[in-house]
Amino acid sequence: MIPVITIDGPGGTGKGSLSLRLKRTLGWFMLDSGALYRALAFSVSERDVSSQDEKGLLEVARSINVEFLDDGLQSSVLLNGQDISNLIRTEDIGTLASKLAASASIRAVLLQKQRDFLKSPGLVADGRDMGTTVFPDAALKIFLTASIEERSLRRLKQLKEKGITARLARLSQEIAERDNRDSKREESPMRPAKDAEILDTTGLGLDEVVSLAEKLIETRFGKLQH
Ligand code: C5P
Repeated sequence: MIPVITIDGPGGTGKGSLSLRLKRTLGWFMLDSGALYRALAFSVSERDVSSQDEKGLLEVARSINVEFLDDGLQSSVLLNGQDISNLIRTEDIGTLASKLAASASIRAVLLQKQRDFLKSPGLVADGRDMGTTVFPDAALKIFLTASIEERSLRRLKQLKEKGITARLARLSQEIAERDNRDSKREESPMRPAKDAEILDTTGLGLDEVVSLAEKLIETRFGKLQH
């Protein structure tokens, strides 16, 4: 069986940065499932499909082909061949992604697309329901948490680095609303799997979180080669 490590949790907990570091150390593939939902939201807004048009939304969901590229220094997200890495990082796209993600039929279309990323030698999958729904048999499941204050500050910094301006109070409110929608929805809500390891990253730097995660990996897979 091809091994999978799942990294779930709300936005701004550092899932993306941790997943990238682990996939590089392990030499595995990576699935940023949030980017898939964001790519769908981006396509829906580009094509001006109404959120009431279920058939149209499903057509877009079926048509998107998302790839993750990583040369070891920089990672990018391609949608049907177009680099959308920065275009999908706005809070507007995040909010639309989270609204679309509440639909059972959309999730069903994206479920298979997510599972198709599983390839040898292994997959690091990050999202909200990787450990509960998409890869329930994953060898290691990590669920990250952090205080809303810290998550908002991290998001603000990430957006600034990408040249996107945002206001902290508004960001914080949007993150809280998105958490609420993601954890309360009926279909595959965000929650830790029963067998997940919970890591609170509040006050921790990326290196510290990576090292905690690597300890968990070593208990499952043996010593890592750096
Ligand atoms: O992680 P990110 O902020 O990029 O995710 C955007 C949105 O996509 C989330 O707020 C969530 O609603 C949705 N999502 C999801 N299931 C996943 C990953 C993301 O519902 N596995």
